[in-house]
Amino acid sequence: MKNILRRDVLRGAALLLLPVPSGALAGCSSSDDAAEPQVFQHGVASGDPLPDAVILWTRVTADGPVDVAWEIAEDPEMTKRVGEGTFRTDAERDHTVKVDARGLQPGRTYFYRFRARGVASKVGRTRTAPTGAVPRLRFAVVSCSSFAHGYFHTYRELARQADLDAVLHLGDYIYEYGSGEYGNVREYEPANEIVSLADYRMRHAQYKRDADLQAVHRQHPFITIWDDHEVANDGYVDGAQNHSPEEGDWATRKAAAMRAYREWMPIREQDGGRIYRAVAFGNLVDLVLLDTRYEGRTKQPGGFVGAPPTPDPTRTLLGETQAAWLEGQLKSSTAKWRLLGQQVMVGNLIIEPGKEIANLDQWHGYPESRARLLDFLKTSGVKDVVVLTGDIHSSWANELVGDPNDPAQYDPVTGKGSVAVELVTPAVTSPGIPDIFVGLVETARPKNPHIRWVDPSKRGFIVLDVTPERVQGAWYHFQDVVAPEPIAPAVAAVWSVKAGSTRLEQDAAPAPPGEARALAP
Ligand SMILES: [Fe+2]
Repeated sequence: MKNILRRDVLRGAALLLLPVPSGALAGCSSSDDAAEPQVFQHGVASGDPLPDAVILWTRVTADGPVDVAWEIAEDPEMTKRVGEGTFRTDAERDHTVKVDARGLQPGRTYFYRFRARGVASKVGRTRTAPTGAVPRLRFAVVSCSSFAHGYFHTYRELARQADLDAVLHLGDYIYEYGSGEYGNVREYEPANEIVSLADYRMRHAQYKRDADLQAVHRQHPFITIWDDHEVANDGYVDGAQNHSPEEGDWATRKAAAMRAYREWMPIREQDGGRIYRAVAFGNLVDLVLLDTRYEGRTKQPGGFVGAPPTPDPTRTLLGETQAAWLEGQLKSSTAKWRLLGQQVMVGNLIIEPGKEIANLDQWHGYPESRARLLDFLKTSGVKDVVVLTGDIHSSWANELVGDPNDPAQYDPVTGKGSVAVELVTPAVTSPGIPDIFVGLVETARPKNPHIRWVDPSKRGFIVLDVTPERVQGAWYHFQDVVAPEPIAPAVAAVWSVKAGSTRLEQDAAPAPPGEARALAP
C-alpha cells in the first residue's frame, strides 16, 4: 500500500507540471525538450523485428485514458512517413503503449515517434529483419543489469554503435531486490523487494528512466527474453529461491511480474504469454529463443556447488512442449546459422569429476534435459549451432560435449566430439562469480578442457559478427561500473567458429565495424 501511495504522489506531481495544450503544440514537429520529459519520461523503444513489422513502445505519464499517436518514417526528420496510427492507453495497462507497426520493407532502418497531450516524444530508430541473401549481421548480446550495482555503461556504449542489427537481451533486465539487499551503488524504487503488480511496474518505470537505458532502446530494436530476476532469484515454474510464503502466493506474484514485463518491454506478445519464439534474419540466421525459467523448469536439485544429480525422469529444464518445439525449429531451419538465445550455461563446470559440479541452476543441474539437447545436436544432422547465454555474470567460450573428460566423447586437442559452441555474455552491471569461487574455477580448469576461455568477473557485452563463413564473438569489458562516467571498454577476447566446424578458434582482433547507418538525432 505504501508503494501505491508513493507512486500516485509521483504521478500527481508530474501532472501538475504538464504544459497547457495549445494550437501551437498541435503543430509541433520535433521533440519539445522542456515538456517532453513529463509526458514521455520513460523514453521510446522498439523490438522483435520481422521483415515487414516491428514493435514500437512508449509510455505516457497521465491519469485517465489517453490517445497516443504514432508514426514511422524512412528518415530521421520524419518526412517520408510510411505508417501512422493511434493507440489508446489507460491505467489498466499502466499507460504503456505497444504498437505492431506493419507494412514495412525488409532490412531497412526506420525512425518513429509518438505524440500525446500536444507533445512529441524523441525520435527513435529501429530496423526490420532482412530477407533473402544476407552477407553479414551484427548483434550486441547482453544480460544481467542490476541497477543497484552500478551504471549502465554497456547501454551507453551500444547506443553509439551505428552498425548493429539488434540488441539481444538474455534476461535479468530488472532485479527484484530491495535497496541495499544486492548492490548499494544506486537505490531502488520501490525500496522494498518487489512483489505486487504495482511494485513490478514501479521497478520497470525506474529502469526506463535511466538515461543510458533510454539511449540504447532509442537507437536499436531489442529482442528480449526473461531470466529469473524478472520475477525472483533462481525461479522455476512452481517457486523461486527468493520467494517465501509470507510474500504471498507464488502464482499471483509470477503473473504480476510477467504482466508488468509484457506492459513495459517491446516484446511481441504471443498466445498464453509464452516468450520462447524464433526470429529469422534472411538466409543467414535463424534466432531461436528459449525460456529455461518459467515455461517448464522443475525445482533445482541443489545450489552453487553440489553432487551431480541422481537420475530423475520427471526433472526438466524446458518442459516437453518447448523441448519438442526447439527440436522442430532446429530441424526445419534452412538458414546458414542457428543461434540459440537462452538463459543458463550449457557448458558444464566440473569441480571434481563424478563427485562435484558447480551451479546446479544451469543445464547440468538438469542432466536429462542437457543430454537430450546434446544428443539431438549430435545425431539429428543439424549443424552450425551457436548457443548464446547470459545469467552467470561472467564471460565464457565453451565447446559443448557430454563429458569432456571421456576420451571417447571429446578430444581437447582438436575439439573433436564437440557438438556446438557456446558464447556466454558477461553482466551489464551484476557482480561476477563471487571471489570465494574464482579460485575454484581456476583450479578446475584442467578438468574442464571444453572451456576454452573464461573471465570470471568483468562487466560488459559481446558483439556478435555473423557471415556465411563464420560466427565471431568479441567480448568487451569495462574496468568499472561504479563511476558514473565510463572509461571506454577494452577488447577482452575474440573467438569464432567456422561454418561446418564445432571448434572455437581465437582471433587476433574483432572484425571491423559494419555499415554505419545514421543514428536517431
Ligand atoms: Fe543475473
